Amino acid sequence: MIKDKKVLFSGMQATGNLTLGNYLGALKNWVTLSDDYECFYSVVDMHSITIRQDPATLRKRARALLTLYIAAGLDPKKNCIYYQSHVSGHAELAWILDCFTYMGELNRMTQFKDKAAKHADNINAGLFTYPVLMAADILLYQADVVPVGIDQMQHLELTRNIAIRFNNLYGDVFTVPEAYIGKVGAKIMSLQDPSKKMSKSDENPNGSIYLMDDPDTIMRKCKRAVTDSEACVAYREEQPGLKNLIDIYCACLGKTPGEAVKEFEGKGYGELKMAVGEAVVSVLKPLQEEVARLEKDKAYIDSIIKENSEKAQYFANKTLRKVQRKVGFPDRIR
Ligand code: TYM
Repeated sequence: MIKDKKVLFSGMQATGNLTLGNYLGALKNWVTLSDDYECFYSVVDMHSITIRQDPATLRKRARALLTLYIAAGLDPKKNCIYYQSHVSGHAELAWILDCFTYMGELNRMTQFKDKAAKHADNINAGLFTYPVLMAADILLYQADVVPVGIDQMQHLELTRNIAIRFNNLYGDVFTVPEAYIGKVGAKIMSLQDPSKKMSKSDENPNGSIYLMDDPDTIMRKCKRAVTDSEACVAYREEQPGLKNLIDIYCACLGKTPGEAVKEFEGKGYGELKMAVGEAVVSVLKPLQEEVARLEKDKAYIDSIIKENSEKAQYFANKTLRKVQRKVGFPDRIR
Protein backbone atom coordinates (compact mmCIF):
# COMPACT_ATOMS: atom_id res chain seq x y z
CA MET A 1 0.00 0.00 0.00
CA ILE A 2 1.48 3.32 1.18
CA LYS A 3 4.91 1.75 1.19
CA ASP A 4 7.22 4.61 0.13
CA LYS A 5 7.96 4.86 3.81
CA LYS A 6 7.58 2.11 6.35
CA VAL A 7 4.37 2.22 8.34
CA LEU A 8 4.04 2.79 12.07
CA PHE A 9 0.90 2.15 14.10
CA SER A 10 0.24 2.73 17.77
CA GLY A 11 -2.61 3.56 20.07
CA MET A 12 -3.59 4.46 23.58
CA GLN A 13 -6.73 3.91 25.56
CA ALA A 14 -8.82 6.89 26.53
CA THR A 15 -9.45 5.35 29.93
CA GLY A 16 -8.47 6.85 33.28
CA ASN A 17 -5.89 9.56 33.76
CA LEU A 18 -2.85 9.07 31.58
CA THR A 19 0.39 8.66 33.48
CA LEU A 20 4.00 9.57 32.98
CA GLY A 21 4.46 5.88 32.05
CA ASN A 22 2.19 6.33 29.02
CA TYR A 23 4.18 9.37 27.99
CA LEU A 24 7.71 8.07 28.50
CA GLY A 25 6.96 4.50 27.41
CA ALA A 26 5.00 5.38 24.29
CA LEU A 27 4.00 8.90 23.29
CA LYS A 28 7.50 10.37 23.55
CA ASN A 29 8.87 7.69 21.22
CA TRP A 30 6.00 8.24 18.81
CA VAL A 31 7.14 11.81 18.36
CA THR A 32 10.78 10.80 17.84
CA LEU A 33 9.86 8.20 15.23
CA SER A 34 7.20 10.17 13.41
CA ASP A 35 9.48 11.71 10.77
CA ASP A 36 10.78 8.37 9.59
CA TYR A 37 7.50 6.53 9.09
CA GLU A 38 4.03 6.87 7.65
CA CYS A 39 2.26 7.01 11.01
CA PHE A 40 -1.17 6.06 12.30
CA TYR A 41 -1.89 7.05 15.90
CA SER A 42 -5.24 5.96 17.15
CA VAL A 43 -7.28 6.83 20.20
CA VAL A 44 -8.47 3.29 20.84
CA ASP A 45 -11.88 4.07 22.28
CA MET A 46 -13.31 0.68 21.25
CA HIS A 47 -10.86 -1.03 23.58
CA SER A 48 -12.01 1.20 26.42
CA ILE A 49 -15.52 -0.25 26.61
CA THR A 50 -14.21 -3.66 27.65
CA ILE A 51 -14.50 -2.01 31.06
CA ARG A 52 -17.67 -0.08 31.92
CA GLN A 53 -17.38 3.60 31.07
CA ASP A 54 -19.50 6.62 31.70
CA PRO A 55 -20.37 7.66 28.10
CA ALA A 56 -19.92 11.42 28.58
CA THR A 57 -16.59 10.90 30.36
CA LEU A 58 -15.30 8.53 27.69
CA ARG A 59 -16.18 11.02 24.94
CA LYS A 60 -14.42 13.80 26.83
CA ARG A 61 -11.34 11.71 27.54
CA ALA A 62 -11.11 10.51 23.96
CA ARG A 63 -11.02 14.09 22.73
CA ALA A 64 -8.52 15.08 25.40
CA LEU A 65 -6.29 12.19 24.34
CA LEU A 66 -6.46 13.11 20.67
CA THR A 67 -5.55 16.68 21.63
CA LEU A 68 -2.68 15.40 23.74
CA TYR A 69 -1.21 13.51 20.77
CA ILE A 70 -1.04 16.79 18.87
CA ALA A 71 0.19 18.75 21.89
CA ALA A 72 3.03 16.24 22.35
CA GLY A 73 4.35 17.21 18.92
CA LEU A 74 2.66 14.91 16.41
CA ASP A 75 1.79 16.98 13.38
CA PRO A 76 -1.75 15.93 12.35
CA LYS A 77 -1.07 16.94 8.75
CA LYS A 78 1.72 14.39 8.52
CA ASN A 79 0.49 11.77 11.00
CA CYS A 80 -2.92 10.18 10.87
CA ILE A 81 -4.39 10.89 14.31
CA TYR A 82 -7.90 9.48 14.63
CA TYR A 83 -10.52 7.68 16.70
CA GLN A 84 -10.60 3.91 16.30
CA SER A 85 -14.41 3.94 16.48
CA HIS A 86 -14.59 6.19 13.40
CA VAL A 87 -13.05 3.52 11.19
CA SER A 88 -15.35 0.54 10.82
CA GLY A 89 -12.56 -1.66 9.45
CA HIS A 90 -11.13 -2.25 12.93
CA ALA A 91 -14.20 -4.18 14.06
CA GLU A 92 -14.62 -5.91 10.71
CA LEU A 93 -11.05 -7.18 10.59
CA ALA A 94 -11.17 -8.10 14.28
CA TRP A 95 -14.08 -10.46 13.57
CA ILE A 96 -12.17 -12.18 10.79
CA LEU A 97 -9.03 -12.47 12.93
CA ASP A 98 -11.12 -13.85 15.83
CA CYS A 99 -11.66 -16.84 13.58
CA PHE A 100 -7.89 -17.29 13.26
CA THR A 101 -7.05 -16.98 16.95
CA TYR A 102 -7.27 -19.81 19.45
CA MET A 103 -8.95 -19.69 22.85
CA GLY A 104 -5.78 -21.19 24.33
CA GLU A 105 -3.71 -18.26 23.04
CA LEU A 106 -6.08 -15.70 24.53
CA ASN A 107 -6.24 -17.62 27.80
CA ARG A 108 -2.51 -17.09 28.22
CA MET A 109 -2.66 -13.29 28.03
CA THR A 110 -1.50 -11.90 31.36
CA GLN A 111 -3.33 -8.61 30.86
CA PHE A 112 -6.60 -10.52 30.47
CA LYS A 113 -5.93 -12.42 33.68
CA ASP A 114 -5.11 -9.19 35.54
CA LYS A 115 -8.14 -7.32 34.25
CA ALA A 116 -10.46 -10.27 34.81
CA ALA A 117 -9.27 -10.43 38.43
CA LYS A 118 -9.82 -6.68 38.84
CA HIS A 119 -13.27 -6.67 37.22
CA ALA A 120 -14.59 -10.05 38.34
CA ASP A 121 -18.19 -8.84 37.95
CA ASN A 122 -17.73 -8.02 34.27
CA ILE A 123 -15.55 -10.59 32.50
CA ASN A 124 -17.07 -9.95 29.09
CA ALA A 125 -16.14 -11.52 25.76
CA GLY A 126 -14.63 -8.22 24.60
CA LEU A 127 -12.13 -8.30 27.44
CA PHE A 128 -11.13 -11.79 26.30
CA THR A 129 -10.79 -10.93 22.60
CA TYR A 130 -9.24 -7.51 23.30
CA PRO A 131 -5.82 -8.59 21.90
CA VAL A 132 -7.45 -9.60 18.61
CA LEU A 133 -8.87 -6.10 18.17
CA MET A 134 -5.39 -4.85 18.86
CA ALA A 135 -4.01 -7.18 16.19
CA ALA A 136 -6.64 -5.84 13.79
CA ASP A 137 -5.58 -2.25 14.56
CA ILE A 138 -2.00 -3.01 13.64
CA LEU A 139 -2.52 -5.34 10.67
CA LEU A 140 -5.17 -3.14 9.07
CA TYR A 141 -2.51 -0.55 8.23
CA GLN A 142 0.20 -3.07 7.33
CA ALA A 143 2.34 -1.63 10.11
CA ASP A 144 6.04 -2.46 10.10
CA VAL A 145 6.69 -1.07 13.54
CA VAL A 146 4.64 -0.62 16.71
CA PRO A 147 6.16 1.54 19.47
CA VAL A 148 4.84 0.38 22.86
CA GLY A 149 5.88 -0.11 26.46
CA ILE A 150 7.04 -3.54 27.63
CA ASP A 151 3.59 -4.40 29.03
CA GLN A 152 2.22 -4.70 25.47
CA MET A 153 4.87 -7.15 24.21
CA GLN A 154 2.74 -10.24 24.73
CA HIS A 155 -0.07 -8.72 22.65
CA LEU A 156 2.41 -7.84 19.94
CA GLU A 157 3.75 -11.37 19.87
CA LEU A 158 0.20 -12.64 19.44
CA THR A 159 -0.37 -10.15 16.61
CA ARG A 160 2.69 -11.49 14.83
CA ASN A 161 1.52 -15.07 15.26
CA ILE A 162 -1.91 -14.27 13.86
CA ALA A 163 -0.36 -12.47 10.88
CA ILE A 164 2.02 -15.34 10.15
CA ARG A 165 -0.78 -17.91 10.49
CA PHE A 166 -2.98 -15.96 8.08
CA ASN A 167 -0.14 -15.43 5.60
CA ASN A 168 0.68 -19.14 5.65
CA LEU A 169 -2.88 -19.89 4.60
CA TYR A 170 -3.51 -17.11 2.10
CA GLY A 171 -0.17 -15.74 0.87
CA ASP A 172 1.51 -12.50 1.86
CA VAL A 173 -1.49 -10.52 3.04
CA PHE A 174 -0.17 -8.89 6.19
CA THR A 175 3.10 -7.22 7.05
CA VAL A 176 4.43 -8.94 10.17
CA PRO A 177 5.07 -6.07 12.62
CA GLU A 178 7.99 -5.51 14.97
CA ALA A 179 7.68 -3.91 18.37
CA TYR A 180 9.71 -0.79 19.08
CA ILE A 181 10.71 -0.50 22.71
CA GLY A 182 12.51 2.67 23.84
CA LYS A 183 15.96 2.42 25.43
CA VAL A 184 14.81 4.01 28.69
CA GLY A 185 11.28 4.44 30.01
CA ALA A 186 9.82 1.26 28.51
CA LYS A 187 8.57 0.23 31.94
CA ILE A 188 8.04 3.03 34.42
CA MET A 189 7.19 1.64 37.83
CA SER A 190 4.92 2.91 40.60
CA LEU A 191 6.61 5.48 42.85
CA GLN A 192 5.09 3.78 45.87
CA ASP A 193 5.71 0.16 44.89
CA PRO A 194 8.52 -0.21 42.35
CA SER A 195 7.61 -3.87 41.75
CA LYS A 196 4.40 -2.74 39.99
CA LYS A 197 4.15 -0.73 36.77
CA MET A 198 2.91 2.85 37.02
CA SER A 199 -0.72 2.53 36.05
CA LYS A 200 -3.79 4.67 35.43
CA SER A 201 -5.81 2.30 37.56
CA ASP A 202 -3.57 2.30 40.65
CA GLU A 203 -5.69 2.92 43.77
CA ASN A 204 -2.83 4.86 45.34
CA PRO A 205 -2.61 8.20 43.48
CA ASN A 206 0.86 8.83 44.94
CA GLY A 207 2.21 5.88 42.96
CA SER A 208 1.54 7.57 39.62
CA ILE A 209 2.41 10.94 38.15
CA TYR A 210 -0.52 11.95 35.97
CA LEU A 211 0.17 13.94 32.85
CA MET A 212 -2.07 16.74 34.08
CA ASP A 213 -0.55 16.93 37.61
CA ASP A 214 0.56 20.44 38.57
CA PRO A 215 4.23 21.12 39.44
CA ASP A 216 3.66 21.04 43.22
CA THR A 217 1.95 17.68 43.03
CA ILE A 218 4.72 16.30 40.83
CA MET A 219 7.42 17.51 43.23
CA ARG A 220 5.53 16.10 46.23
CA LYS A 221 5.05 12.70 44.61
CA CYS A 222 8.73 12.52 43.67
CA LYS A 223 9.85 13.50 47.17
CA ARG A 224 7.67 10.75 48.64
CA ALA A 225 8.89 8.08 46.22
CA VAL A 226 9.89 4.83 47.89
CA THR A 227 13.64 4.14 47.73
CA ASP A 228 15.82 2.02 50.05
CA SER A 229 18.22 2.30 52.97
CA GLU A 230 21.46 1.75 51.03
CA ALA A 231 22.13 5.50 50.87
CA CYS A 232 24.06 5.11 47.61
CA VAL A 233 22.88 6.28 44.21
CA ALA A 234 23.25 3.32 41.85
CA TYR A 235 21.39 1.85 38.90
CA ARG A 236 20.74 -1.79 39.67
CA GLU A 237 17.91 -4.29 40.02
CA GLU A 238 18.49 -4.59 43.78
CA GLN A 239 17.50 -0.93 44.20
CA PRO A 240 14.29 -0.88 42.15
CA GLY A 241 12.92 2.41 43.53
CA LEU A 242 16.12 4.22 42.73
CA LYS A 243 16.44 2.55 39.35
CA ASN A 244 12.95 3.73 38.49
CA LEU A 245 13.75 7.32 39.49
CA ILE A 246 16.88 7.24 37.36
CA ASP A 247 14.88 5.83 34.44
CA ILE A 248 12.38 8.67 34.76
CA TYR A 249 15.17 11.23 34.99
CA CYS A 250 16.96 9.84 31.94
CA ALA A 251 13.83 9.41 29.83
CA CYS A 252 12.81 13.02 30.55
CA LEU A 253 16.21 14.54 29.83
CA GLY A 254 17.60 12.17 27.21
CA LYS A 255 20.49 11.02 29.41
CA THR A 256 21.87 7.56 29.99
CA PRO A 257 21.70 5.84 33.40
CA GLY A 258 25.52 5.90 33.51
CA GLU A 259 25.56 9.67 33.12
CA ALA A 260 22.90 10.10 35.79
CA VAL A 261 24.69 7.92 38.32
CA LYS A 262 27.87 9.93 37.78
CA GLU A 263 25.98 13.18 38.22
CA PHE A 264 24.56 12.08 41.59
CA GLU A 265 27.66 10.30 42.90
CA GLY A 266 28.05 11.02 46.61
CA LYS A 267 24.77 12.94 46.73
CA GLY A 268 21.75 12.06 48.83
CA TYR A 269 18.47 10.57 47.66
CA GLY A 270 16.71 13.85 48.53
CA GLU A 271 18.74 15.71 45.93
CA LEU A 272 18.06 13.06 43.30
CA LYS A 273 14.32 13.14 44.00
CA MET A 274 14.26 16.93 43.61
CA ALA A 275 16.11 16.68 40.30
CA VAL A 276 13.72 13.99 39.07
CA GLY A 277 10.73 16.15 40.01
CA GLU A 278 12.21 19.12 38.17
CA ALA A 279 12.96 17.00 35.10
CA VAL A 280 9.36 15.76 35.03
CA VAL A 281 7.98 19.29 35.43
CA SER A 282 10.22 20.51 32.61
CA VAL A 283 8.57 17.94 30.32
CA LEU A 284 4.97 18.07 31.50
CA LYS A 285 4.48 21.81 31.99
CA PRO A 286 4.93 22.77 28.30
CA LEU A 287 2.80 19.77 27.33
CA GLN A 288 -0.03 20.91 29.60
CA GLU A 289 0.20 24.46 28.27
CA GLU A 290 -0.04 23.25 24.70
CA VAL A 291 -3.05 21.05 25.54
CA ALA A 292 -4.78 24.08 27.09
CA ARG A 293 -4.06 26.17 24.00
CA LEU A 294 -5.29 23.53 21.55
CA GLU A 295 -8.43 22.77 23.55
CA LYS A 296 -9.62 26.29 22.87
CA ASP A 297 -9.41 25.76 19.12
CA LYS A 298 -12.46 23.57 18.65
CA ALA A 299 -12.76 24.08 14.89
CA TYR A 300 -9.15 23.05 14.32
CA ILE A 301 -9.47 19.84 16.34
CA ASP A 302 -12.77 19.05 14.61
CA SER A 303 -11.17 19.43 11.19
CA ILE A 304 -8.36 17.05 12.19
CA ILE A 305 -10.88 14.49 13.38
CA LYS A 306 -12.81 14.65 10.12
CA GLU A 307 -9.84 14.61 7.72
CA ASN A 308 -7.89 11.94 9.50
CA SER A 309 -10.72 9.50 10.01
CA GLU A 310 -11.36 9.63 6.26
CA LYS A 311 -7.69 9.04 5.56
CA ALA A 312 -7.54 6.12 8.01
CA GLN A 313 -10.71 4.61 6.57
CA TYR A 314 -9.23 4.76 3.09
CA PHE A 315 -6.10 2.80 4.03
CA ALA A 316 -8.01 0.43 6.30
CA ASN A 317 -10.40 -0.46 3.50
CA LYS A 318 -7.56 -1.41 1.19
CA THR A 319 -6.39 -4.14 3.55
CA LEU A 320 -9.91 -5.12 4.54
CA ARG A 321 -11.10 -5.69 0.96
CA LYS A 322 -8.06 -7.84 0.28
CA VAL A 323 -8.64 -9.93 3.41
CA GLN A 324 -12.36 -10.30 2.69
CA ARG A 325 -11.54 -11.57 -0.78
CA LYS A 326 -8.95 -14.02 0.56
CA VAL A 327 -11.33 -15.61 3.04
CA GLY A 328 -14.02 -16.00 0.39
CA PHE A 329 -16.54 -13.21 0.95
CA PRO A 330 -18.42 -12.35 -2.26
CA ASP A 331 -17.17 -9.38 -4.31
CA ARG A 332 -19.06 -6.11 -4.02
CA ILE A 333 -21.03 -5.11 -7.09
CA ARG A 334 -20.43 -1.46 -7.99
P1 TYM B 1 -2.43 1.61 27.23
O1 TYM B 1 -3.48 2.61 26.87
O2 TYM B 1 -2.58 0.87 28.50
O3 TYM B 1 -1.02 2.31 27.23
C1 TYM B 1 -0.59 3.13 26.17
C2 TYM B 1 0.91 2.95 25.96
O4 TYM B 1 1.60 3.30 27.16
C3 TYM B 1 2.51 2.25 27.51
N1 TYM B 1 2.61 2.21 28.98
C4 TYM B 1 3.75 2.25 29.66
N2 TYM B 1 5.03 2.35 29.25
C5 TYM B 1 5.99 2.41 30.21
N3 TYM B 1 5.73 2.36 31.53
C6 TYM B 1 4.47 2.25 31.99
N4 TYM B 1 4.22 2.23 33.30
C7 TYM B 1 3.41 2.19 31.03
N5 TYM B 1 2.06 2.10 31.13
C8 TYM B 1 1.58 2.10 29.87
C9 TYM B 1 1.86 1.00 26.95
O5 TYM B 1 2.81 -0.03 26.77
C10 TYM B 1 1.30 1.51 25.65
O6 TYM B 1 2.29 1.50 24.64
N6 TYM B 1 -3.70 -2.23 24.36
C11 TYM B 1 -3.01 -0.97 24.38
C12 TYM B 1 -3.56 0.05 23.40
C13 TYM B 1 -3.62 -0.44 21.99
C14 TYM B 1 -2.52 -0.53 21.10
C15 TYM B 1 -3.06 -1.01 19.90
C16 TYM B 1 -1.16 -0.25 21.24
C17 TYM B 1 -4.73 -0.85 21.33
N7 TYM B 1 -4.39 -1.20 20.06
C18 TYM B 1 -2.24 -1.25 18.78
C19 TYM B 1 -0.35 -0.46 20.12
C20 TYM B 1 -0.89 -0.96 18.91
C21 TYM B 1 -3.13 -0.36 25.75
O7 TYM B 1 -4.06 -0.65 26.50
O8 TYM B 1 -2.23 0.60 26.02
